[in-house]
Amino acid sequence: MSSDHMLERIMSDRSSIEKKMDEILPAGNELPAALHEAMRYSSLGGGKRFRGILCLQAHRMFGEPHPDDSLAAATAIEFLHAYTLVHDDLPALDDDDTRRGRPSCHVRFEEATAILTGDALQALAFETLSACSGANPADVTLSVWMLAVAAGSRLLVGGQSADIEGEGHDPEPGLVEFIHTRKTAELMSVSLKIGAALASAGMEEIELIGDAGREAGLAFQIVDDLLDLEGSEEKVGKELRKDIKRGKITWPSSYGVESSRVTAARLIEGAVEKVMTLGDDGYLEFLFRMVVDRTS
Ligand code: IPE
Ligand code: IPE
Ligand code: MG
Ligand code: MG
Ligand code: MG
Repeated sequence: MSSDHMLERIMSDRSSIEKKMDEILPAGNELPAALHEAMRYSSLGGGKRFRGILCLQAHRMFGEPHPDDSLAAATAIEFLHAYTLVHDDLPALDDDDTRRGRPSCHVRFEEATAILTGDALQALAFETLSACSGANPADVTLSVWMLAVAAGSRLLVGGQSADIEGEGHDPEPGLVEFIHTRKTAELMSVSLKIGAALASAGMEEIELIGDAGREAGLAFQIVDDLLDLEGSEEKVGKELRKDIKRGKITWPSSYGVESSRVTAARLIEGAVEKVMTLGDDGYLEFLFRMVVDRTS
């Protein structure tokens, strides 16, 4: 399949996810209006929808028996991701004023509203995922459980906590792997696992596609660290050169730029190999390769 065709698929998946998000989100004028407006602002304004697209594609790979459910699940994952970005930008965390080319939620609204927006988007994610009604109830329960584990203190929030604790400290062996696999890789992994689970894939297949997502997700965060060092603010849509300023533990600060590139490329090869054995038609491979080639 040509790369133009792949890009068309990405555009089409992105617009399906955004349409569904728009339908599910409360109207901006529904009370409390500032909160609902902030939820819409933070989840609808831009974003690559990478995690949602992974979920859609994993579901297709296992037969796509319930397309409405995979779209709802992809939407749920993007709500959860949007919450993590709103909280990640808060003054108490990374203190970033720009996100997706616009003022961050706490800058556009105030800080209290941004905290509550994150809380509400996380709840909306679980509300949306648990309402999947076409799939086998056991597959929905497994999906909700997997998302809760991935989002919790041992994984995503734990990674965010270690990232903040690590600020100003020297890199130590294993620390950046601990942070990055938790704060970023696990959500990519579970996006694929949920797509597969809602299509009633077997546990071995779910685990293997999850392993591929973890590798691609780790590469994604390594490239995010590289973009912070070397990328264009205009393209990335967020303030860059902040990691050094805040003394963050990053892959390049731990291993150097060149080694970071090599590791990201190696991880993507591992991820591609795994999804090929699961019957990927080339779309996941294309998406994974975009992770290392991206400039935004
Ligand atoms: C940003 O994720 C946070 C990281 C894990 C680096 P994305 O780069 O996927 O952000 P959007 O959704 O496209 O804005
Ligand atoms: C963010 O990592 C990971 C999560 C939001 C869970 P970063 O802090 O590096 O992401 P950006 O660079 O602000 O997008
Ligand atoms: Mg952060
Ligand atoms: Mg940040
Ligand atoms: Mg970053």
